[in-house]
Amino acid sequence: MRTVRAPATSANLGSGYDTFGVALSRPADVVSVERADRTTIEVTGAGAQFIPEDPEKNTVGAVARALDAPAHIKIDKGVRPASGLGSSAASAAGAALALNDLYDRGLSREELVPIAAEGEAVVSGAAHADNVAPALLGGFTIATADGVRSIETNVPLVACLPEEPISTRDAREVVPTHVSIEELVATVGNAATLSVGMCRSDPELVGAGMADEVVTPHRAALITGYDAAADAAREAGAHGVTVSGSGPGVLAVCPPDRRRAVAAAMVEAFADNGENARAYRTWTG
Ligand code: HSE
Repeated sequence: MRTVRAPATSANLGSGYDTFGVALSRPADVVSVERADRTTIEVTGAGAQFIPEDPEKNTVGAVARALDAPAHIKIDKGVRPASGLGSSAASAAGAALALNDLYDRGLSREELVPIAAEGEAVVSGAAHADNVAPALLGGFTIATADGVRSIETNVPLVACLPEEPISTRDAREVVPTHVSIEELVATVGNAATLSVGMCRSDPELVGAGMADEVVTPHRAALITGYDAAADAAREAGAHGVTVSGSGPGVLAVCPPDRRRAVAAAMVEAFADNGENARAYRTWTG
């Protein structure tokens, strides 16, 4: 038997749609695997009732197939599904690491990224790697068609999760298919700023680089109370706020000593809009 802890992640970070991702120090899934003749899946923990245990429909089933590694796979969910914190990616990354070890497949963490991304295709229809890359490699990651780059970073964050779920599949439907040259220029500038901020572990630069007018406004419109929560976070000291992944989670970057105030402000703003929300004070992991 092998057991692996796989962290929550936040993808996009505003300006890096389908490219940027960051691992969070908490919450996390715990994935355990045991050799078996055929793959079976058992899910417990946060939102387990919403997750299919059929290997054809669960992200880890695709990973087991890709590694030719049938197993009984137990997933203890710490990362709530459809929250915007890479729930399916955490399970896929955990299963990939654990099965690679259990079956001595000898693949590196980088080589496991496309395999875990296959699991993402099962739930969202697209094999995007921006959650599985940080779940496997940690830190800040840039996933492109050429591969994945990662760096260690140390940035304080708050992830606030309203209860109303949004499926990644639905949230991908609202993303525009074209951008203007002005939007492209602004996005390149913001994404570059964010990358420098991550390299320097500088929350102010990261916050500035999170700005995005291409994808985020369309996703924010799907989240009841987003504008109020984002304004409240900024008033409480956040340097930047964006939709976490495909939402409904909201990610704020702030000075370390403002995390408690930012978390409380966002929860209160969601409550004022009739939404129950839970906030995690966390760090890049
Ligand atoms: N990049 C993906 C999206 C991440 O925004 O659809 C999903 O968590």
